[in-house]
Amino acid sequence: MQVIIYDDAQQVAQSAAVWVKTLIQQKPDTVLGLATGSTPISLYKELVDEHKKGNLSFANVKSFNLDEYHQIEETNPQSYRSFMKQHLFDHVDIDQSNTYLPTCAIGENPRAQGLAYEEKIKQAGGIDLQILGIGANGHIGFNEPTSSLVSRTRIKTLTEQTITDNSRLFSADEEQPTMAMTMGIGTIMDSRYVLLMATGKNKAKAVLDTVAGPLSAMCPASVLQMHENAVILLDKEAASELADHEYFQWTDEQNKKLNAEFGLFHNF
Ligand code: F6R
Repeated sequence: MQVIIYDDAQQVAQSAAVWVKTLIQQKPDTVLGLATGSTPISLYKELVDEHKKGNLSFANVKSFNLDEYHQIEETNPQSYRSFMKQHLFDHVDIDQSNTYLPTCAIGENPRAQGLAYEEKIKQAGGIDLQILGIGANGHIGFNEPTSSLVSRTRIKTLTEQTITDNSRLFSADEEQPTMAMTMGIGTIMDSRYVLLMATGKNKAKAVLDTVAGPLSAMCPASVLQMHENAVILLDKEAASELADHEYFQWTDEQNKKLNAEFGLFHNF
């Protein structure tokens, strides 16, 4: 696990953008795993800016999002498809027929839809780089605490905490979904690289449990301790409960030297 601590959320976004941009430049047909939520919005802004400056093309990129609300229309402004269009897809040259979300419409069988999503990821050659945020309860995707650490794409019931955390995004007259389709933890673990972004004080405990806690289904993100290439990008607030800041800083300096000589990615 590579833990990198930055002064603020903007630096976290800029660093994440460097990882994504470097990979796409090295492998133009990158398969990206994408997240929604507040945290990656500034990453997507950085990527859009890079695209507009002519430094980055998504023309051959495929993407798979982590999750989507159950039985939501694509065109609903609350759908994660709408979120991705608003923050990324509509502003870059990605072919939107190559962008996938784990949808399950009314009348469709969520179990069959989950299997079909897994198959689509496999056919695309697997996910090269998965972007993750983290819930205050340690969830990744919508894999809530107690999720199987080897789970695959499936339907999940959201916890009270997640529903409350996300209620800020819904107005009083909008119905907030309580179920979602999500990539499983096993699906996420199959990605070649994982980039988890966490910012803000309310993520500090989940970050501590992820990096330094026991590996436990009670903190799904702790499974990343078992990932070969997990990079954890934190601002100071999200890192505030971690000890060993000096060690992480020292390691980062060493890694920067290695990266300058050999590149960020070593297995593409
Ligand atoms: C979003 C997702 C979630 C979020 C997490 C953090 O696709 O899968 O796991 O990453 O809930 O959300 P924010 O960034 O809004 O704090």
